[in-house]
Amino acid sequence: MPQLIRAHLLHTPESPFENGTGALHSYSDGAVVIDKGAIQASGNYKDVKAQFPDVPEKHHPNAFILPGFVDCHVHFPQIAVIGAMGMELLDWLEKRTFPEESRLADATYAKETAQTFLQTMLRNGTTTAMVFGAHFLNAQNVLFEEAQKLNLNIISGLVTSDQNIPDSLKTTLEKAYQENKTLIEKWHGKNTLRYAVMPRFSVTCSDALLEVCGTLMAEHPDVYFHTHINENPSEIAFVKELFPWAEDYLATYERYNLIGKRSVLAHNVHVSDDALTRLAKAEAAIAHCPSSNMFIGSGLFDMRRHLEHKIRLGLGSDVGGGTGFSLFKEGLMAYQMQMLKEDGYRLNSSELLYLATKAGAEALGLDNQLGDLQKGKRADLVIVEAPKDSTLSQALKHSPNEEAALSSLFTLAREDCIKEVYVAGESSYQRNIL
Ligand code: GUN
Ligand code: ZN
Repeated sequence: MPQLIRAHLLHTPESPFENGTGALHSYSDGAVVIDKGAIQASGNYKDVKAQFPDVPEKHHPNAFILPGFVDCHVHFPQIAVIGAMGMELLDWLEKRTFPEESRLADATYAKETAQTFLQTMLRNGTTTAMVFGAHFLNAQNVLFEEAQKLNLNIISGLVTSDQNIPDSLKTTLEKAYQENKTLIEKWHGKNTLRYAVMPRFSVTCSDALLEVCGTLMAEHPDVYFHTHINENPSEIAFVKELFPWAEDYLATYERYNLIGKRSVLAHNVHVSDDALTRLAKAEAAIAHCPSSNMFIGSGLFDMRRHLEHKIRLGLGSDVGGGTGFSLFKEGLMAYQMQMLKEDGYRLNSSELLYLATKAGAEALGLDNQLGDLQKGKRADLVIVEAPKDSTLSQALKHSPNEEAALSSLFTLAREDCIKEVYVAGESSYQRNIL
């Protein structure tokens, strides 16, 4: 059954980084018509209504309709690690993260973790994600099964490591190859699920394991590649020690043919111009994870140089190095980080919306299907409404224009403001508070 949803509609079908003002499409009395999982029309309510006069209507007079958010880097086994203070990356991994991830060997815990993870993502308005997986075949199967039930756009994969990690998380070359192959054959391209080969990072991977990843990518050229890079100075120094032949961190992946159009690399905080040039040439994408970069003290991301090199760029919550699932908050953190950085890029609210939606879809190669509210796109929508008497509702009452309203959303809107989430046209989450 087609349905018309009426509210203030905001989306960024074109890049504000290239088009400047005008990139924000805003219809204060706007509407979308959804049917058969896709958007049939969007724009001014009057125009949409004239086109679909008989379609049942749902009106949210104080709400906004946004495209579903796209999270380009989030770890499914790490909700329990969110907020582990006082440590930088390598200590944080050893003391809190590896022990927690080892618990996913237990099938009951893995299932509970997968369900909680997906539900929590959804209640934050995220409908598409590149999900860093678990080290266990069973846990990874469960994540895909649960994601399939919810019809979410999930790219994920088994995480592999064979050194500098507790034995409980180590794999072998043969096991890594076989388990990846099994999962690719079972899940890649099944409905809205896709597979990514995921060595954890060069610190925990031998040359031979990276070579296995390269073999898998060569045998399955349409799967993705996803890992971490250039996050933290001690990590980068460790990689240098472990791979003396490599000119830099990126080279440890390049050598095994892991960097290309379908590669999404998280962080890239400390990066040379030469590496940026190579990433641009390979058409690889970067997941920028500002709350994580600040929380575990990794550094200030150089957005300006990434933009200058025209590298595809999306936002990642990086739960649990990051501080939660909200892409609104990730946008605010990206903004604040650039404000603090010397020669930082001064982001505006249209750019934040683009980064949290369409740019993420581009980074994941899904922009022909989702990321904005144009006709024909998947009906992944978020209805955002400030709770009564909240700070956000006060701020919105006095907004001078739509850019300012959108700035207030990024600054103040969080989980409690997500009123409803549609996944492929189905209402998949409804808030139960006012
Ligand atoms: N590098 C390797 N593993 C991880 C992880 O779990 N989180 C982050 N932020 N960086 C990593
Ligand atoms: Zn990560």
